Parts: sequence; C-alpha cells; structure tokens
Amino acid sequence: MSTYQTVLIEKSDRVATLILNRPAKKNAMSPKLHADVTAALEELRYDDDAKVVVITGAGDAFCAGMDLKEFFHELKDQPARYDQVLRMATEWRGRTLRYFPKPTIAMVNGYCFGGAFSIVESCDIAIAADEATFGLSEINFKGFPGGSVSKSLANLFRPRDALFYALTGRRFNGKRAAEIGFVTLSVPLADLKKETMAVAAEIAGKDAAALRATKDGYRFSLEMSWEASMNYTLAKEVELAGRQQVGWKEEGIGDFVKGKFKPGLAGHETIKR
Ligand code: COA
Repeated sequence: MSTYQTVLIEKSDRVATLILNRPAKKNAMSPKLHADVTAALEELRYDDDAKVVVITGAGDAFCAGMDLKEFFHELKDQPARYDQVLRMATEWRGRTLRYFPKPTIAMVNGYCFGGAFSIVESCDIAIAADEATFGLSEINFKGFPGGSVSKSLANLFRPRDALFYALTGRRFNGKRAAEIGFVTLSVPLADLKKETMAVAAEIAGKDAAALRATKDGYRFSLEMSWEASMNYTLAKEVELAGRQQVGWKEEGIGDFVKGKFKPGLAGHETIKR
C-alpha cells in the first residue's frame, strides 16, 4: 500500500482499517484528506488482502466533518477549486463507499459532526462508542447539511429525528445513535475495537463474491421497482456463480445436501477440511 499524509492503513487477518489521520484537527476533512481517502479506497478495492474495510479516526475523534477553514473559508473565493473539492468529497462518501465491492464498517470512536454523518451512513455497518458525540452542527454556523449529508439523513434517519437534530444542532451520544438506528450498535469505548474487529473477522470469513452480491442486491434493490429488482437479482445469481471459483450451488448447497453443515446454524467457512 502507498503511504498517505492524512490517512493510515492497517491490515490484519484480511481486515483493512482506514484511519482518518488528522488527530490535531479532530480528523476534519481537508481537501488533502479527501484526495487521500479517494486514492486509498481505490487501492483497497483491488487489494486481495482486504476483504472488509473498517473506517475510523485517529485520536479521540472519528471525524469533525468538513474542514471549515481549509474548505469553506479558504476556498470561498475560488469557485472552480471549491467545486472540484466538493465533487471529490461527495463522490467518495456518496458513491465509492456506498457501492464499495467489499463490506465496510464505520467504527465511530468519538466526535462525529456534519459531513462525517455521510461516512457513517455510507458504510454497511456502523459501530459506535457509547461515549461518541454526534451532531448536525451545520445549523450552528448558519449552514445546512449540504453535499451528501441531506441525502444521508433522508436515507437512514426517521423523519422526526432527522429534522429535530438538523434544526436544533443538538448533540447525541452513541447509545442514542443506536436507539434511533443511525448506527447498528454501540458499545463502551473500551470495547469498541474488540467488538468491531470481531464483526469484521466474522464477515471476512465469508465468500467474497457472495458478500459483494449481498451488498449489491440490497443497495440497488432499494432504488428499483419490484419488477426491476426481481430481474436484477436473477441476473446477479448468474454473475455470482461466474465470480466464484466454485459456484455456491456446487459447494455451499452441495455440502448442505451431503450433510456437512447446517447453514442456518453456521457458515460454510466453519467446515473442517
Ligand atoms: N474544521 C476545521 N478545523 C477543525 C474542525 C473542522 N470541522 N473541527 C475541529 N477543528 C480544529 C480546531 O479548529 C482546532 O484547531 P487549532 O488547534 O488549530 O485551533 C483543533 O481542530 C482541535 O479542536 P478544538 O476545537 O480545540 O477541540 P475541542 O475538543 O474543544 O472541540 C469540536 C472539538 C469538534 C467540538 C470543535 O472543534 C468544533 O465545533 N468543530 C467544528 C465541528 C463542525 O461543525 N463540523 C461540521 C463541519 S460540516
């Protein structure tokens, strides 16, 4: 892997952890950070050692949102550069991460403000520290949830929560984030890494092509009519077999029929060879 100024990559047991690495600035997303994450995700997409990607922040923050100084303030009189950075910023969160061909987990270790909501929302799973602090702070600086954040709210928040938090700018903790369904679960900060890595390891044990089909089937079906979705998933079934070295019908279903395992109780990866 390349080395990046504002992003660290750690890899262990087929799980890659992408760490937003500007701890002195609470990992606020500067133009450089957007460029680094874009490049790092491109590398991880094709990295066979990375079956699952975890995203977290260095130090005591997850991400304090867009860099208010280096982006909004310093680029306010440079419309072309501003547009270029905004496009990059929305592209990696709203498209690359959302449709990433591998499972992604947001590990929210601390402050999570504004634009960082889109990172959490675009990941497939989110695990927060009970103690993490979330806030749609845009209203507090006379702004609004721009870029991909409004769409992220519309996608995942219950309407009453979305506008309540966006209009007041009130903060909430990880426990509340789990209660309202913004994150999958919350755990004490002391257990955050262990719990997240256990989920990541469980998923990393599964078939990579089946994981990809699972994500695609869910995410794209959300945007389709019933008819289109039925048609899409039928075609996906053929694609899945094409991507697998040994098709799921031969191996996965075959081993069930041979009585080797019960898929309702365990994954195929648990079969002793
Ligand atoms: N953009 C740019 N710089 C930021 C930042 C952001 N979003 N969030 C934090 N920083 C910088 C601070 O300016 C400070 O820089 P300095 O040391 O050069 O003065 C540094 O990070 C540490 O932050 P600080 O404010 O001293 O820490 P804190 O623990 O007291 O407060 C926050 C942390 C996150 C509550 C506070 O910095 C804040 O309100 N940031 C803005 C959050 C926001 O509105 N984000 C939405 C953007 S879309």
